[in-house]
Amino acid sequence: MKTLVAYYSLSGTNRRAAEIVAGALGADLEEIKASPMVPLLILKAWLGMGTKIGEPKRDPSEYGLVVVGGPVFAGKLAAPVKSYLDRERASLPGKVAFFLVCGGRGDREALAGMEKAAGRKPVATAVITVGDKKRLSVENEAQAKAFAETLKTLGVS
Ligand SMILES: Cc1cc2nc3c(=O)[nH]c(=O)nc-3n(C[C@H](O)[C@H](O)[C@H](O)COP(=O)(O)O)c2cc1C
Repeated sequence: MKTLVAYYSLSGTNRRAAEIVAGALGADLEEIKASPMVPLLILKAWLGMGTKIGEPKRDPSEYGLVVVGGPVFAGKLAAPVKSYLDRERASLPGKVAFFLVCGGRGDREALAGMEKAAGRKPVATAVITVGDKKRLSVENEAQAKAFAETLKTLGVS
């Protein structure tokens, strides 16, 4: 199944996870771009708002599965991810999957926010918890690979 992995990443961990998932699935990658002004990103996340994002390069309606990933900020879904899902809701295929690379606080609320913004239940989700370092550990990389394998096992990729 043709798959798109769309992600937002400020400090690189979600980018790395997206690259691993896309590599394992042979998927196309779409980076969700937004202004890196941290205080604004935090405030918007906290308020449950979206933010201005760059024009996506890929059309999600051309894919059978769209995997979307990003961080948790201030206990909520990162604003650029919300904006992407809001904007592409009508173009998303029936099958979506979500992942978060985050500090492990607020992930449930962020996943609920993704489902609401996408208007669809995900076929699978993954929460990859990172420590202080701005990089994925070997274990985190294995979690990203396992998520991709789950998607294959489900027969959605
Ligand atoms: C200002 C700020 C606030 C954050 N708030 C949360 C939070 O509420 N919950 C959480 O799990 N992680 C939180 N994090 C951690 C990020 O989600 C984590 O560092 C993630 O890996 C960042 O993704 P990125 O490297 O792709 O940008 C926060 C990070 C920053 C910089």
